[in-house]
Amino acid sequence: MSVNHIKWMNFAILQGLRSKGASGKNPPVGCVIVKNDILLSYGRTGTSGRPHAEEEAMNNVVDKKNLIGSSMYVTLEPCAHKNNNGFSCAEQICKSGIKEVFISCIDPDPRTNYRGIKILRKKEIKVQENFMNNEASKLYDGFFSRILFNKPFVSLKIACSLDGKIALKNKKSKWITNELSRAYGHFLRSQNDAIMTSSSTILNDNPRMDCRLSGLEQRSPTKIILDRYLKVSSNHNIYDTTYKNDIFLYSFMEMKDHLTKNKFVKKRKVDKKLNDEDFFKFIFSDLAKKGVNNLLIETGSIINTLLLSLNLVDELVIFRSGNIIGNDGLPFVNNLNFKKINDLTNYKISSIRTFEDNVLEIRNLTNKDIRCSQAL
Ligand SMILES: NC(=O)c1ccc[n+]([C@@H]2O[C@H](COP(=O)([O-])OP(=O)(O)OC[C@H]3O[C@@H](n4cnc5c(N)ncnc54)[C@H](OP(=O)(O)O)[C@@H]3O)[C@@H](O)[C@H]2O)c1
Repeated sequence: MSVNHIKWMNFAILQGLRSKGASGKNPPVGCVIVKNDILLSYGRTGTSGRPHAEEEAMNNVVDKKNLIGSSMYVTLEPCAHKNNNGFSCAEQICKSGIKEVFISCIDPDPRTNYRGIKILRKKEIKVQENFMNNEASKLYDGFFSRILFNKPFVSLKIACSLDGKIALKNKKSKWITNELSRAYGHFLRSQNDAIMTSSSTILNDNPRMDCRLSGLEQRSPTKIILDRYLKVSSNHNIYDTTYKNDIFLYSFMEMKDHLTKNKFVKKRKVDKKLNDEDFFKFIFSDLAKKGVNNLLIETGSIINTLLLSLNLVDELVIFRSGNIIGNDGLPFVNNLNFKKINDLTNYKISSIRTFEDNVLEIRNLTNKDIRCSQAL
């Protein structure tokens, strides 16, 4: 494998990352066009999903003759379905004169799945598929989960003490982790399409759940509120819509007169008879239908325990400080009542970093590999 191909695909992956959490229901894609090992152009998925990265990269080349004989590096298979101009990305590539395309991940969307590649190969464009698939697949954990499993990719964020407690006995939790950790937590919010919290956490902490990093405020995710009995009033910070993001409110109650003045609130009634598993499955599939690929959850012990016991968490994002709270604190997870070690769920480490004396561990569920080429 040539080193330069790796370099250019890494650049394409970085472009894709810039769109993560800001590409609507479409997947975040990065694309780079190179000729004679010199960068011609690059692009990434636009806000709300259009233009596609390949379109943007090709449009950015002023003299289109330069595209003839060039190479494209793209993190997801070019689409085979037509855009508003009547052409798919694969067809536009065919018309451009690009001679070879390196593709990291195959698109599971049935409108494209291997059809994009077929269109390219039919025009004798050299295609290398699954190129750096491992490196790029992290971009698509959410998109693949939504398309293949009808649920968003669920990341559970936990800010805890050294001994795994998320609040004191009196439920005070501001602040267990340091400023840098919290800033990174805001960055993670910007990379997710939606953020979920509960009535209990809202009533205790009055959080805003937006992204308050300077310059990234508009990347604040859609807010998802679990408030089965409508305990949270419109005065709580969560209903602040400065950044104009939608709020999905899930409740058992009729909501005709509730929060009628807030046009950002989308009311979603949940059947009271659903058991815990069906309750969350209903919400996750509803969110998937709305195009939510990546869902960040910031809740306390009760919801964390439910989600973990139901195996609904794909990724744990644990910020751990050096403080010790003790056994009277609120644990990040309550009893799970396992009887056999072999039955324990394993979350494998995918990254670790430090923020001064805080540690961030990101761990993924081991038994669910959603890299697309394998899932199909
Ligand atoms: N450090 C951290 O990472 C972190 C993050 C978040 C929260 N916290 C802390 O955690 C504390 C709150 O934790 P918590 O355990 O009380 O609350 P929680 O887990 O956030 O939420 C529990 C609430 O969720 C609602 N709920 C919705 N669906 C449910 C279901 N199917 N089954 C049961 N309950 C359901 C219930 O309220 P309804 O009956 O009203 O629906 C329940 O009281 C706060 O002190 C907060 O500071 C810490």
